[in-house]
Amino acid sequence: MGFSSSLWLRTLLWEVMFLLPLLSPYHLLALSNSPFPTNNFILGTASSSYQYEGAYKSEGKGFSNWDNFTHGPGRSRIMDGSSGDIAVDHYHRYLEDIDLIDALKVNSHRFSISWARILPKGRFGEVNWAGIDFYNRLIDALLLKGIQPFVTLSHYDNPQELEDRYGGWLSPQSQDDFAYYADLCFKTFGDRVKYWITFNEPNIVVPMGYRSGIFPPCRCSSSLALVKCREGDSEKEPFVAAHNIILSHAAAVHIYRTKYQTKQRGTIGIVLQHEWYEPISNSTADKLATERARSFFFNWFLDPIMFGKYPTEMENILGSLLPKFSNKDKEKLKKGLDFIGINYYTAYYVKDCIYSTCKSKFGVSKTEGSYMKSGENNGIPIGEPTSFSWLNIYPEGMEKTITYVKNRYNNTPMFITENGYGEEDHPNFTLEEHRNDSKRIEYMEDHIEAMLAAIRKGADVRGYFAWSLLDNFEWIYGYTVRYGFHHVDYATLKRTPRLSASWYKQFIAKIKGTTGLEKLVQNT
Ligand code: NOJ
Repeated sequence: MGFSSSLWLRTLLWEVMFLLPLLSPYHLLALSNSPFPTNNFILGTASSSYQYEGAYKSEGKGFSNWDNFTHGPGRSRIMDGSSGDIAVDHYHRYLEDIDLIDALKVNSHRFSISWARILPKGRFGEVNWAGIDFYNRLIDALLLKGIQPFVTLSHYDNPQELEDRYGGWLSPQSQDDFAYYADLCFKTFGDRVKYWITFNEPNIVVPMGYRSGIFPPCRCSSSLALVKCREGDSEKEPFVAAHNIILSHAAAVHIYRTKYQTKQRGTIGIVLQHEWYEPISNSTADKLATERARSFFFNWFLDPIMFGKYPTEMENILGSLLPKFSNKDKEKLKKGLDFIGINYYTAYYVKDCIYSTCKSKFGVSKTEGSYMKSGENNGIPIGEPTSFSWLNIYPEGMEKTITYVKNRYNNTPMFITENGYGEEDHPNFTLEEHRNDSKRIEYMEDHIEAMLAAIRKGADVRGYFAWSLLDNFEWIYGYTVRYGFHHVDYATLKRTPRLSASWYKQFIAKIKGTTGLEKLVQNT
C-alpha cells in the first residue's frame, strides 16, 4: 500500500518533532539530565524463541509443546488459527533484526533459547549442533555491536518429548532435564552470556496450562475451567507443576553457582509476571484478599526461592495440597538468585470471595485463594481502558510493584524484563497508520517515569526491556495483537520502524548525551 505525499509530510514533521525536545510532546525526550542512577543502566528490547524464530522443524529442531499444540486441536484456540511455524522468521533474519536493535542503540537484547532446538529429545537424545550454531551466531553478532545478550532458558516452550515421556512439569524428572539443559547452555554460551533467566513467567505457564487448560499441556478439571480438557486436575496439578519448576530453577542456579559463575562472572535470575492489585474497598476482607492474591499469583514462586518456603497464606489454605520441600531441596533453594525479573503490564481491583459471593471463573475457588479480580470498581476502571478487557493502563502500578518487591525481598536487584503496549491489529490500516503508535510511546513513557520514581526512592532497578522489538506471535491471540517497535507485514515479513522506535532511539541518544548509557563491557 503506497503512501500519499501529504502522509509522508505528516510523518516527516512528526519525526522532526522528536529531534526538537522543546516541541516534543514526549517528556522523557525533554530531560536535560539522565534520570538513571548509573550510566550502565540497561535499556533493551525483548523477544522469545517461539514468538520470533519460526523454522519450527528446520535443521534438526525437535517439536516443542507449542508446536504440538498448534499442530493439534489446540490450533482452534488460536484466535486467527495461526501458529509460530514461521512467526517473524527470526531464525533466518536475525542479522537484519540485530541491525534494527543496533539502530536503537540499546545496550542489551533479551531473547530465549528454544530448548527443543538444541535438545530435541531433552536429555534422552543427541545435541542438535545446528541449533547450538544458531545461538552462537546470534550471541556473537549481538556482542559485535556491543549489545549484551540477556538470555531466557524457558519462555513457555519446552520439548514435547518430555511431555510424552513423563508428563513434563508434573514429573520430578523434569528437574533433571532442565538441569541438563541449563548445564549445556552455561557450558556452551556462558563465556559470552552474563545474564541468565531460568524461567519466564512460570506464574502464567502453570495456571494457563494446568488450571484453566488454555495453554499446553491443556490440563484441567473441565468443571472448573472455561475449556474442556481430556485430563487434569485444576485443584492439584498446578501446585505439582509449580513445585517442579521452582526446583528446576534451583537446580539450574546450583549448577551455575558451583560450576560456572566464578569463572564466567555472570548473574542468574527468574522472571515473573506482576499485576498490581488494589483492594476494591477499604474492608479488611478485601485487603486480606489482596494480600492473598499477591501470594497466590506472585509470591508463590518467589518466596520458596528467597525464603525456602511457600507463602503462609498458601500454606494455611492449601495444607497438604502444597508439596513439601525436603531438606535437600531447601539446601538447593538457598542458592536463590541474583536478580528478580518483573514483567509489568496492568492492574486490577481485588474483591474477597470468602465472606461474600463472587461470580467469576477465575481466582474464586479456595485453591486459587478465594478472590476475584476486576478491572473496574462500580463501573469505574482502575486505569485508562483499552480495547482489551484485561488491559487498563495503570502506570502507578509499576512504581507500586517495584516498591512491593523491594520491600518483600530485601531490595534484591530487579530488572523490568518486559513492559509494552499491545494494540489490536487493524487489517485495513495503511502502513502509515500502523506506524503512528503515539499511544505506545505515551504508555512506555508513563511506565518508565513510574519506574524512575521507584528508583529515586531507593529501589535497586538495573534495567528496562521493552516488549517488543517486532510484532510477533502473541500466543492464543496469534497475530491479532501487535506489540512491536517495528511493524511486521506478515505476508512479506518486511519490518518497518514505528514512531515508538524513533522515540526509544531518541530517548537513548539523549541519555548518551548526558551522563551516558554505556555499551556494557564484557567483564571476563
Ligand atoms: C509476557 C510474555 O512473556 C510474552 O511472551 C508476551 O508476548 C507478553 N507478555 C505480552 O503479552
